[in-house]
Amino acid sequence: MEILNTVAALQAHTETWRREGKRIGLVPTMGALHEGHLQLVRAAAQECDVVIASIFVNPTQFNNPEDFRLYPRLPEADAALLAPAGCTALFLPTAADMYPQPSVLRFDFGPLEHVMEGAHRPGHFNGVATVVSKLFHLGRPHRVYFGQKDFQQVAIVRQLIADLSFDLELVAFPTVREADGLAMSSRNRRLDAAARAVAPRLYQALQLAQKLVLSGQASVDEVRTAACASLSSAPGLELEYLELVDAQTLQPLQQWQLGRSVAVCVAAHLGGVRLIDNVVVTQP
Ligand code: PAJ
Repeated sequence: MEILNTVAALQAHTETWRREGKRIGLVPTMGALHEGHLQLVRAAAQECDVVIASIFVNPTQFNNPEDFRLYPRLPEADAALLAPAGCTALFLPTAADMYPQPSVLRFDFGPLEHVMEGAHRPGHFNGVATVVSKLFHLGRPHRVYFGQKDFQQVAIVRQLIADLSFDLELVAFPTVREADGLAMSSRNRRLDAAARAVAPRLYQALQLAQKLVLSGQASVDEVRTAACASLSSAPGLELEYLELVDAQTLQPLQQWQLGRSVAVCVAAHLGGVRLIDNVVVTQP
């Protein structure tokens, strides 16, 4: 596996790979890699000739400076995990190289970003769209791999690809979980033992919501109330939101819409760490 530390090095490589007719897969990450990331890389390795994984803790998508400062950074350990997963090249740029000047372009995703993460983390998706656009231009991938764990991010990137006519295919990969159901996340490393023990309650609340949706016996409000109530007794857990939204439009549901999938999305603070998770349910 090659390690590419500069934008110019990545551009030179992608130029060659394109000329050779290689199919390029790109897996954008912020590092502190776990099995969720590695499964994206393995999927890319199966479907593409070359796999670029990027690790860049993108400053423009953090609305909380403390979260940016504390974000785990483990490039050597990450590199050791990527090679056996089938990664061809690790792109590890500096912020100065990625942002030679402060970016002034602003994205507006309309209703897609007025909810959930977009509403609670102002500027977050602007930063994501900016860096992802840069990575698409630099890596010139045929396929890009994103995790459903960041459900709203997938919707935003899908819109970005369509609106800017990026000639690539988006693969949305299912959420990879720990044995107890907790969605894998780089931020899980920051949970202390007590918080780690409570963290699976989030997925349990989502499963409860899923069961109630599938029962066909509860209203949207009743499902939301029951799921929120199940979290109220979780020690130290501060719920930020728990929403039932249309899985396509991401708009909050007032009542069930026949034949449409529902995403149940949750964000919570636990022991100073912000966690998100979701499940998508198709009503019978
Ligand atoms: P990061 O949180 O490092 O995640 C990188 C990719 O891995 C994202 O597509 C994310 O959805 C996926 N991922 C994370 N945890 C996962 C899990 N448990 N199961 C499956 N996939 C998972 O998301 C970002 O970085 C950044 O916003 C980025 C897209 C790199 C832009 O900076």
